[in-house]
Amino acid sequence: MTVQLSDITWDAFRALELGEKGRYLANDGREYHVLVAQQFNRKRLEELGALATHIRRISKQEAGMTFLRSLLPNQRAMLYFSQPSSRTFLSFCSACEILGMNIGEVRDTATSSEFKGETQEDSVRTFSSYFDLIVMRSQIGGLAERMAWLLSNTERPVPIINAGSGKDQHPTQALLDVYTLQRSFEKRGSIDGKTIVFVGDLARGRTVRSLAWLLTNYRDVKMLFVAPTELQIGEDILGLLRSAGVKHEVMSDFDKAIPMGDAIYMTRIQDEWDAAGESRKIDISRYCFTRDKLALLKPDAVIMHPFPRRQEISVDVDDDPRAVYWRQMRNGMWIRAALIAAIFGKEKAINEYFAAQA
Ligand code: CP
Repeated sequence: MTVQLSDITWDAFRALELGEKGRYLANDGREYHVLVAQQFNRKRLEELGALATHIRRISKQEAGMTFLRSLLPNQRAMLYFSQPSSRTFLSFCSACEILGMNIGEVRDTATSSEFKGETQEDSVRTFSSYFDLIVMRSQIGGLAERMAWLLSNTERPVPIINAGSGKDQHPTQALLDVYTLQRSFEKRGSIDGKTIVFVGDLARGRTVRSLAWLLTNYRDVKMLFVAPTELQIGEDILGLLRSAGVKHEVMSDFDKAIPMGDAIYMTRIQDEWDAAGESRKIDISRYCFTRDKLALLKPDAVIMHPFPRRQEISVDVDDDPRAVYWRQMRNGMWIRAALIAAIFGKEKAINEYFAAQA
């Protein structure tokens, strides 16, 4: 039976297990709201990855770009980013432009009527009066979910994409990370059987939490979590991995982990969550990827990072072919274009155009 967010109370939706929420977020068998990484299964990850690749290849030709821009010229997207962003904001801008959408933005609530005391609820409802899609980032965990539920009970129930909320979710980052892994391993089978090493601030990194969950969709994946004790992965994720039967190990020795990894996923200290600045005192020098560590890395492994980075990857690692983080951020534009195209029912048209050109 098809159900929507308007079919459930806020309290009941909020209380659902994350894996249960997805059934309320679809419309006609495709994505409507994109709120949590847990709403995607392996089949859908592969379909979206293929769609992103088709968009990427179609866009290489001028006629292809013209076709893509003809898809959504009558749709408008609002980018509501009340928390700083470079990659997510700009890649969503570019994704919308690739598909011919018009965009509006609020990046600083000091320039919107929130400065005058308007609630975020009223702000989002105002955006829905003018736009057909809201992409939102907020420092408040669960806010995108709350806004999606709220809009679903109004006369303008436009879709919401969560572009990062609090410490809990960054689902489109997880999609671009999986897409990067799919592309990196396509000549070596797939993500199945690979070892992913997560390094850095695993306690507060929402990208790690979302990606770790998505990787449970693959067979025989092993995850290694390498961090100082204070920043280690939380018991909630470890419990999830145990119940999903996923092999994993919590470690502190980075040099021991590197040779085991097919992908090394580096993260920075997330000290913006730490008002007292305590985490700035943690010594992370042992958890930095410096040039000498390249010798420990498998020849066909990849180094990833959601960025922004600080000192946890030296710039002199950038020219190694295994450093894929610049490609990774570009993949964000393609997978976000794929996601928006899917939300607006353009997946079939893109796949057919691609097949006709092949
Ligand atoms: N990876 C990521 O979310 O980057 P931004 O904060 O720059 O958007």
